[in-house]
Amino acid sequence: MCGIVGYVGEREALPFLTEGLRRLEYRGYDSAGVAVLGPSLRIVRASGKIAALADRLRTEEPNGTTGIAHTRWATHGPPSEANAHPHADCRHRAAIVHNGIIENYGELKGELAARGHRFASETDSEVLAHLLEEGLQAGKSLADALASALNRVRGTYGVVAISEDHPGRLAAARLGSPLVVGIGRDEYFVASDAAAILGHASGVVHLKDGELVEASAEGYVVRSLVSAPVDGTVERLEGTVAGLQKNGHPHFMLKEIHEQPDVLRNVLRGRVDMEAGTSILGGLRDVGDRLASLDRLSIVACGSAYYAGLIGKRMIEEWAGIPVEVDVASEYRYRDPIVTAHTAVCAVSQSGETADTLAALREAKRKGALTIGLVNVVGSAVARETDAGIFTHAGPEISVASTKAFLAQVATLALLAVHLGRRRGLPSASARAILSELERLPRLIASVLEQAAAFRTLAREYGAERDFFYLGRGYGLPLALEGALKLKEIAYVHAEGYGAGELKHGPISLVDAAFPSLVIAPRDSVYEKTRSAIEQIRARGGRVLALTDEGNADLDGLAAQVIRVPHVSEALFPLVGIVPLQLFAYYSAVQRGLDPDQPRNLAKSVTVE
Ligand code: M6R
Repeated sequence: MCGIVGYVGEREALPFLTEGLRRLEYRGYDSAGVAVLGPSLRIVRASGKIAALADRLRTEEPNGTTGIAHTRWATHGPPSEANAHPHADCRHRAAIVHNGIIENYGELKGELAARGHRFASETDSEVLAHLLEEGLQAGKSLADALASALNRVRGTYGVVAISEDHPGRLAAARLGSPLVVGIGRDEYFVASDAAAILGHASGVVHLKDGELVEASAEGYVVRSLVSAPVDGTVERLEGTVAGLQKNGHPHFMLKEIHEQPDVLRNVLRGRVDMEAGTSILGGLRDVGDRLASLDRLSIVACGSAYYAGLIGKRMIEEWAGIPVEVDVASEYRYRDPIVTAHTAVCAVSQSGETADTLAALREAKRKGALTIGLVNVVGSAVARETDAGIFTHAGPEISVASTKAFLAQVATLALLAVHLGRRRGLPSASARAILSELERLPRLIASVLEQAAAFRTLAREYGAERDFFYLGRGYGLPLALEGALKLKEIAYVHAEGYGAGELKHGPISLVDAAFPSLVIAPRDSVYEKTRSAIEQIRARGGRVLALTDEGNADLDGLAAQVIRVPHVSEALFPLVGIVPLQLFAYYSAVQRGLDPDQPRNLAKSVTVE
């Protein structure tokens, strides 16, 4: 989704701004622009990729030590140069970049137009530039002018403003859309994603909702939008610039798939107590009493995180005996969920900024639930707004398609299930067996990755298919859903994830020689049932690609192809079984000439509802 970077200091702003935009490219966008103060305001924008903007900047290079930049993912008004940010006021003296949505923009636009403001775009964001202009013309400071503009709007924002009226300063604020302030020496950075400031800033302040920062080369002040100064806690900036590079891989997605053995080691590091037969989750320590009296757990999440939640549900019910419901976050808040004093709501999210997940979490909080965040990005809104939390330690995930973050979520949910289980009578021997198997998995996942070339061949064989079923039962069902999502989102192949047992209740009518099925069929407790589904497909002339475990020759001859992964216990199968599905989707996209890192219409972090 849209990306923001800003700079104020003593160096030229443009090199940082353009590098920052490149680092945010992965989030998805359709136009880009920069505004630099030096001392007059210069704005350069382009529709399309950052390369198009870079071409323009070669001839129109704006100089100055204060600047803002933006990658836009169209919501109001199509992708075009006019709709690209930054947006200027009527005087062309002030400019803003904005992430989020201004819900009452129609009403504000009408009012502003009646007062003589002229609009140059179809965006909702532009009203902010004109509201800012009114404050500046009334003689307000940049921060006060921004605050009074924001006090007029309903909606969400991460916004940064600069103006010729206040050279050498920038002001930025957030409400529902992430913004961080990077602290340098005599220079300050703002960004919607810490990736943009890695290697530049020594520390970082994560702005909270309703906070505003004003910065110049002399320093910065964080205050609330209603003006009282607040403590902007400076935190260590996590991550390395190396984590933002492909390290020899053609795409981030492939790099991230290959990182999974290490990711799993990181998830487990320091969290396995084999002697006591339990998992140590420090982030839950303070809420131990409430966990002890839990009678229901709700998991809220979107996309891949939701599928990870479905796997977590089965583990928690099986090992801890706690009833778990899993909701698509966008549905949760609108269905009047039942929350009691003994309900915990766990938000699962890579970014920790997904608008739907945050809204569900806030609804749960409002109703009195204990809230738990299972999050990758440290300092994100979910991490800050929950009562307790567990980080998934996947490291920065750049590719839009979730791979290592999904694996880390499933593994972290396994640790949570063991943790809750041990409080509810899961025998230490059973917990030890689960934990020691988890510790063996990085090696097994690495062995699947060694077969990557075979998945390239398979993707070629299925390269002309337009439709796919992904079928599974038990732990295989969420895996089927996640596998189908991967193929859809990056290879643009219509893939339906379905319960193998549901096939005969309708979807089987679609099966023919041109509608292949990938069936997840490890030798688990429902294997015979899954096998029957394969028989049913074969009987109708359907082609089957089966995923099973090593040593199972039973499907040879029945399935057209068989993928084998090392045998693991039923509950942990998704952690190994997901890898071939990720590789198959990745190579399917590449084979179709698509860029798997930047699928069309998609954004990495969905910060609008
Ligand atoms: O950052 P989150 O984990 O909250 O994101 C949730 C989904 O938007 C995300 O998993 C999405 O479905 C991915 N594109 C899947 O690959």
